[in-house]
Amino acid sequence: MGAKLNITLVLMLLTAILAVDAKIENDWEDAHATNYGGMDGRETMQGACGYGNLTEQGYGLETSALSTALFNDGLTCGACYQIMCKDSKWCLNGTQSIHVTATNFCPPNYTKPNENWCNPPLKHFDLTQPMFRKIAVYEAGIVPVAYRRVNCVKQGGITFEFKGNPNWIVVLVYNVGGVGDVKDVKVKSSNTTSWLQMRRNWGQNWDTNATLVGQSLSFQVTTSDGKMVQADDVAPATWKFNQTYVCKRQFN
Ligand SMILES: *[C@@H]1O[C@H](CO)[C@@H](O)[C@H](O)[C@H]1NC(C)=O
Ligand SMILES: *[C@@H]1O[C@H](CO)[C@@H](O)[C@H](O)[C@H]1NC(C)=O
Ligand SMILES: *[C@@H]1O[C@H](CO)[C@@H](O)[C@H](O)[C@H]1NC(C)=O
Ligand SMILES: *[C@@H]1O[C@H](CO)[C@@H](O)[C@H](O)[C@H]1NC(C)=O
Ligand SMILES: *[C@@H]1O[C@H](CO)[C@@H](O)[C@H](O)[C@H]1NC(C)=O
Ligand SMILES: *[C@@H]1O[C@H](CO)[C@@H](O)[C@H](O)[C@H]1NC(C)=O
Repeated sequence: MGAKLNITLVLMLLTAILAVDAKIENDWEDAHATNYGGMDGRETMQGACGYGNLTEQGYGLETSALSTALFNDGLTCGACYQIMCKDSKWCLNGTQSIHVTATNFCPPNYTKPNENWCNPPLKHFDLTQPMFRKIAVYEAGIVPVAYRRVNCVKQGGITFEFKGNPNWIVVLVYNVGGVGDVKDVKVKSSNTTSWLQMRRNWGQNWDTNATLVGQSLSFQVTTSDGKMVQADDVAPATWKFNQTYVCKRQFN
C-alpha cells in the first residue's frame, strides 16, 4: 500500500516536471511534407528567402520550403524546425526526427483541383529530397508530419553579404542562430552617430538608400523573439559589393 502510494507520488511528480519541460519547448503541431529537387539539392538553392548557394552558406541540404501559412511573406526565412513523420505506413520506422532551416517558399497553386498542399491555410513543408528520405519512403510523395520550432544551431557568426550598388545597398543576413528568423535590421556607419532603419526588401535581404560606401559599418540584428545582436564594425571601410563579412557574435 505504502509502496504503491510512493510510486503514484513519484509518477505525479515526474508528470509535473515533464509538463513544465514541455512548456519550455514549443508544442508539436500537425502539417504535411513533400519534397522537391533531386538528391543533390541543386534545385533547392537560391529561392524566395534570398539566400544563395546553401552549401556555401552553411545550410546544406537540411532545408525546407514553407507554404504560405508558415512563410509569413518571407519573415519566417531562417527559422528552424524539427519534423517527424507521423501516423502513416510510409513513415520510416525507427527513424529520428529531422532538423531543417526555412530557405524557400512553396507557392500556392489555385489552378490545381488536387495536390494544392501549399495553398493557405495548409501548413506544409516542401523538403529537399534527402531530408524527406530520412523520415519517409520516397514513393509516398506526401506524408503527415508533426513539427515544432527549435533553436537554430549554426557554426560561426551572423554573416552579411553586400549587394546592389552605391545608391541602393542590399544586405543579405544569413547564418543566424537562436530562433533564426530576423525581423529587424539597423545599420550605422562610422560617419554617423544614429542607427538607420533598413527595410526588408524580400526574404532576408535588407536594403537602404543611405550613402555608406567607404565607411565601416555596424549592424543591429533583431530576431522574432526580440533578441538583438550588435555587429560592431563588421564591414571595414574598404567593404566591397559581392563580398561577405562575418560577425564574431551569434544568437544563442
Ligand atoms: C555550391 O557550392 C559548392 C561548394 O563551393 C559547389 O560545389 C556547388 O557546385 C555549388 N552549387 C551550385 C548550384 O552552384
Ligand atoms: C512501419 O511499421 C508499421 C507497423 O509495424 C507498418 O505497417 C509499416 O508498413 C512500416 N513502414 C515501413 C515504411 O516499413
Ligand atoms: C499549377 O498547376 C498546374 C496544373 O498542374 C500547372 O500546369 C501549373 O504550372 C502550376 N503553376 C505553378 C505556378 O506551379
Ligand atoms: C529609396 O529611394 C526611393 C526613391 O526615393 C524610394 O522609393 C525607396 O522607398 C527608398 N528605399 C529605401 C530603402 O529607403
Ligand atoms: C562623412 O561625413 C562628412 C561630413 O558630413 C563628409 O564630408 C564625408 O564625405 C563623409 N564620408 C563618407 C565616406 O561618406
Ligand atoms: C556583383 O555580382 C553581380 C552578379 O553576379 C554582378 O552583376 C555585379 O557586377 C557584381 N558587382 C561587383 C561590384 O562586382
